[in-house]
Amino acid sequence: MAPIGDRMAEALNVQAKWELFSSYLYLAMSAYFSATKLPGFANWMRVQAQEELMHGMKIFDYVIERGGRAELLAIDKPQFEWGSPLEVAEAVYDHEKKVTGLIHALVDLAAEEGDHATLNMLQWFVSEQVEEEANASEIVEKLRMVSGDRGIGVLYMLDRDLGGRLPKLAPVVAAK
Ligand code: FEO
Repeated sequence: MAPIGDRMAEALNVQAKWELFSSYLYLAMSAYFSATKLPGFANWMRVQAQEELMHGMKIFDYVIERGGRAELLAIDKPQFEWGSPLEVAEAVYDHEKKVTGLIHALVDLAAEEGDHATLNMLQWFVSEQVEEEANASEIVEKLRMVSGDRGIGVLYMLDRDLGGRLPKLAPVVAAK
């Protein structure tokens, strides 16, 4: 197979940067939840951060496997403060929708380049985004119900539930 084209490799390097930024952002959200004494939510975001790191590594490894040059781009400082757990969950949902758009643009580029191997690799990300958006949306919906007298009770129940979440895959090691 021919090595990956420069345009495709560059676009994948940019995507790896976004995945690593997602990891950084979710780790910042985890720290916010730890500071607000919601350890279950902090665990949820920590697990998400590990999964995003794995996504970035998956792309990094793929570029190298295809004979391209994996270039590490600068990662921005993520947001530090949020107004409420709902605000964080909404930000996660919005961020995942943005990432879905980026993945779909990569699929379009791979199709334009006639790069079938990259198209195939990206299908995993297309499916993953469906799941990530659904999970974030579910938590947004639950948090919207946290209002009124029973609000705090529901919030702590949700916190306990999220405290049990584990990563789907061990990060980094299972990158391929
Ligand atoms: Fe790797 Fe949540 O996008």
